[in-house]
Amino acid sequence: MRDRIGIHVGELFIEEHAPGGKAQDLHSLQVDMCARVMSLAQGDQILLRRSAFDNARQVLKGRDLQGLNEANELHWLNHGLYLLKGVEEPLEICEVGEAGAALLQPPPDSEKVHRYVSPDAEPVLGWRPSVDQVVPGTDWVLIEKLGEGGFGEVWLGTHRRLKEKSVFKFCFRADRVRSLKREVTLFRLLKERVGRHPNIAAVQDVYLNEPPYYLTSEYAEGRDLATWIQTEGGFDRVPLSIRLEIVAQVADALQAAHAAGIIHRDVKPSNILISTDAKSNASPLAKLTDFWHRTGCFERIACRRHAPWLYRNGAFPRGSGHGGNASLHGAGAHCPETGFHPV
Ligand SMILES: Nc1ncnc2c1ncn2[C@@H]1O[C@H](COP(=O)(O)OP(=O)(O)OP(=O)(O)O)[C@@H](O)[C@H]1O
Ligand SMILES: [Mg+2]
Repeated sequence: MRDRIGIHVGELFIEEHAPGGKAQDLHSLQVDMCARVMSLAQGDQILLRRSAFDNARQVLKGRDLQGLNEANELHWLNHGLYLLKGVEEPLEICEVGEAGAALLQPPPDSEKVHRYVSPDAEPVLGWRPSVDQVVPGTDWVLIEKLGEGGFGEVWLGTHRRLKEKSVFKFCFRADRVRSLKREVTLFRLLKERVGRHPNIAAVQDVYLNEPPYYLTSEYAEGRDLATWIQTEGGFDRVPLSIRLEIVAQVADALQAAHAAGIIHRDVKPSNILISTDAKSNASPLAKLTDFWHRTGCFERIACRRHAPWLYRNGAFPRGSGHGGNASLHGAGAHCPETGFHPV
């Protein structure tokens, strides 16, 4: 016998019955949705809706599962959107399974279901990161999801032998992958013109040849500014001298980038990473990251027709003629996170 399983998370009512007959009835549209997901599966296949899939792959380690062959890894795949007969909105269908035992294939089209994916989106479907999983073709194992942004998912990885840590930013948007490919020269520009700056988080490598597409960068233990301030107990618990130091360091990073002709355009707390050295009492080190996230984000200062995107993308309207100094104003505008207010 071969099992097929559908997993969907939603609220339902359970009606308990008196002993003797049927124990209970389940009432909810979600039950029907779950049955529909299951009906897409074939033998030896576990299909899931996206929310269940995203939650499970952050915690479920193959080696913790009883009966899983130790040599086999769990594979996590996003098959993309499907249109089901009788359901208006397309559903994102994902799969988890043991390599070598599970089917691990997109459900085929049938009378009741059609794939709803433009060919453009194809290259970013399939493999998805999960805890304890090896990044394909490398010796890096993913250990924790750090966050998620418009670009994709951010995971912390550790090297199997060297035990070093590195951050993997996976990109699952076809449009972003295309613009990233165009911007590879700009990574080089930043490297060549600014070099290694203590307050700029360096991109270590860029993998854009085949999926999964990702960048790697150094790990900041304190995460981003907003998270770090929270873990410290709020900005009034962080000494004024340290808060001022962080703002000054971000201004230094922007100054160095501007001097090299590069505008950030997306200065905000989540793009200011905080490195802390638990062993020393040294002040935390602020590192500006994500110079490349907005489409066409690198902009020569000489091009004054487009103002940089500032914190909350609204400090200056487009075409206002503000150049590099506007990003420096952006550094001031994010001061509320450090307890200051913009002037
Ligand atoms: N090198 C890093 N070290 C530690 N944490 C990181 C690192 N890079 C990113 N993060 C964490 O991952 C989160 C998500 O980052 P990401 O850049 O994808 O999104 P974002 O900056 O919040 O939003 P946006 O989509 O606008 O860029 C950050 O808020 C931060 O907490
Ligand atoms: Mg970011």
